[in-house]
Amino acid sequence: MSSSKNYQRILVTSALPYANGPIHLGHLAGAYLPADIYVRYQRLKKRDVVYICGSDEHGVPITIAAEKKKVSPQAIVDEYHLRNKEAFYKFGMSFDYYGRTSSPVHHRTSQEFFLKLMEKGIFKKKTEKQLYDHQAGMFLPDRYVRGECPVCGFADAYGDQCEKCGSSLSPTDLKNPKSALTGQVPELKETMHWYIPLGDFQQRVEAWIASQDDWKSNVLGQVKSWLNQGLADRAVTRDLSWGVKVPLPNAEGKVLYVWFDAPIGYISATKEWAEQLGDPERWKTYWQDQGTKLVHFIGKDNIVFHCIMFPAMLMAHGDYVLPDNVPANEFLNLEGSKLSTSRNYAVWLDDYLTKFEVDPLRYYLATTAPETKDSDFVWMEYLQRNNSELADILGNFINRTLAFTEKRFNGLVPPRGATDQLDEEMLKTLAAAPQVIGDAIERYELRKAVTLLMDVARSANKYFNDQMPWATIKEQPEKCATTLNICLNICAHLALLMAPVLPFSAQKLWRMLGLDGDVNEQGWDDLKIDQLPPRHKLGDLYILFRKMEESEIEPEIERLRQAKAQLNNAPAAPAVEESPKISIEQFGQVQLRVAKVLAAEKVAKADKLLQLQIQIGEETRQIVAGIALHYQPEEMIGKKIIVVANLQPATVRGIESNGMLLAAQDENGHFALLGLDRDVEAGGRAR
Ligand code: 2FM
Ligand code: ZN
Repeated sequence: MSSSKNYQRILVTSALPYANGPIHLGHLAGAYLPADIYVRYQRLKKRDVVYICGSDEHGVPITIAAEKKKVSPQAIVDEYHLRNKEAFYKFGMSFDYYGRTSSPVHHRTSQEFFLKLMEKGIFKKKTEKQLYDHQAGMFLPDRYVRGECPVCGFADAYGDQCEKCGSSLSPTDLKNPKSALTGQVPELKETMHWYIPLGDFQQRVEAWIASQDDWKSNVLGQVKSWLNQGLADRAVTRDLSWGVKVPLPNAEGKVLYVWFDAPIGYISATKEWAEQLGDPERWKTYWQDQGTKLVHFIGKDNIVFHCIMFPAMLMAHGDYVLPDNVPANEFLNLEGSKLSTSRNYAVWLDDYLTKFEVDPLRYYLATTAPETKDSDFVWMEYLQRNNSELADILGNFINRTLAFTEKRFNGLVPPRGATDQLDEEMLKTLAAAPQVIGDAIERYELRKAVTLLMDVARSANKYFNDQMPWATIKEQPEKCATTLNICLNICAHLALLMAPVLPFSAQKLWRMLGLDGDVNEQGWDDLKIDQLPPRHKLGDLYILFRKMEESEIEPEIERLRQAKAQLNNAPAAPAVEESPKISIEQFGQVQLRVAKVLAAEKVAKADKLLQLQIQIGEETRQIVAGIALHYQPEEMIGKKIIVVANLQPATVRGIESNGMLLAAQDENGHFALLGLDRDVEAGGRAR
């Protein structure tokens, strides 16, 4: 477990995302995918690891989202909790438990935590003037107020943070504050709150941070700068109706500050996990036994909370372990610009999942994770990495090995005979790979781990080329058998080594190799070099990583281009040349007809095409349509569609197409066939 301490178990958390909107790629690259890779690896290492996450359902981000949509906060969190949970699971996030902070267990746990600190005399009670909106009849904590940042002058900073310069703020710091609810200039009004005097913990936090020699420098840098400024009192309650109620008499209208309750959410979710296991006390081992290695995966905007405030809370409480590491990531930009959820300048996970496959995204995000500095998601790079690395290096090695075995050895693993120097070198590289890749993961260097994985596939391709099995099969069949035996065992190793990053493809490969069970349940160090013994029968062969075409990602690039143009307040340039106007006569030359789909099937080796048999009046004809990414063949049968009936015939992938169907697509990639809103017989004219 790399860290010098002698840990017996690992507890991993990913920041609880606010349930106020969908998950986007920035989230994934920061706090989720890196944690999932780490956890999957630790499970393969057969370590006792529990991975916790869940929805952060309190705080002003939730109530503002609810107000915008004119629904209750409960409705907002119910919607996004389910949506995000589902999207995460489809993306392969292997949480042991995905909780939510609206749960009764969480409310109770955070209230007990608050009371314990209260009983220990930790809090200061202070009455101070805060911003109040008379028209709305409420105080304006955090994001309820916007105004000019006192640090950088940005005109639209939030009451808790400036998004431009990253400074953490209090609402009263803002110049020219305005209520985010009514636009009114707020007034100052007295209110009483409980504060945690972080200054009292400064020395302990400093000493604890000073002992962290394996933390990332971006994290230590931020923490030290906070510490240098001196830690101040921080309010742990708010005047709001949505949140965990302050569990005291005379605390009407007061709730816990979301950054007080949310990290406690890690604890409550662990409790719920233990309850679900039927071992309700088990959570305590993970949180209260010093043998636990606690690791928080977060984005850089959460550093102060996870490295100062929550540890100070844990120290104040006294019963809990402190994090061993907080490998925070920087931010992921998108096509050269900052992500903006409010301006829809983002790639949303659930939208991505309707159009593309999971593993290419996991791969690309892992190779571009913003580990040491901000990084950039670029669709063309995503495509190139898929095509030139996943498909051309990893996929190619697997495919050529399996295809060769299929063809020349009837799909049976050939025996390994005497080995030469190249064989020995390859076997040595392979034997070292689990340790080398594992060490990088232990150090949270996931980009490096992925590069090292790809290096194994590169070496394997070179080995295949150098051994020339296509030539040795004739003159030196034993040597050829040895080469393929080694290549096949490399494939088995690759399946295991890629499992943390590419869990879905790893399992497919495992099956293609004719192996039973789940590759994700193997032991990282247990694969033998004869994992596939001679005469072992391989499974069915198919392409593991499909090459993508530019046309598949063009709509995504275009949508972002338009969003960016809007963001910059410039009118978006038309994507295509303005077409010249046509006359009604010209339009009349296009014969649009109602057609009924009689049969539909996929076109082999063309992921986007369906071959349709359609009926127009008495006539039956065939068309090829580029709709397979959006419609399954079965659901097409019986549908009435609109086709251009007098288009010149064309041959698409060797299949004749006599017409074209009409469909619509928007810049978000939403796709629909044009149909009829009442029934009209097939053959009817559309105009
Ligand atoms: O920044 C965020 O999205 C917060 N909801 C993260 C909370 S992390 C933890 F403390 F719960
Ligand atoms: Zn600022």
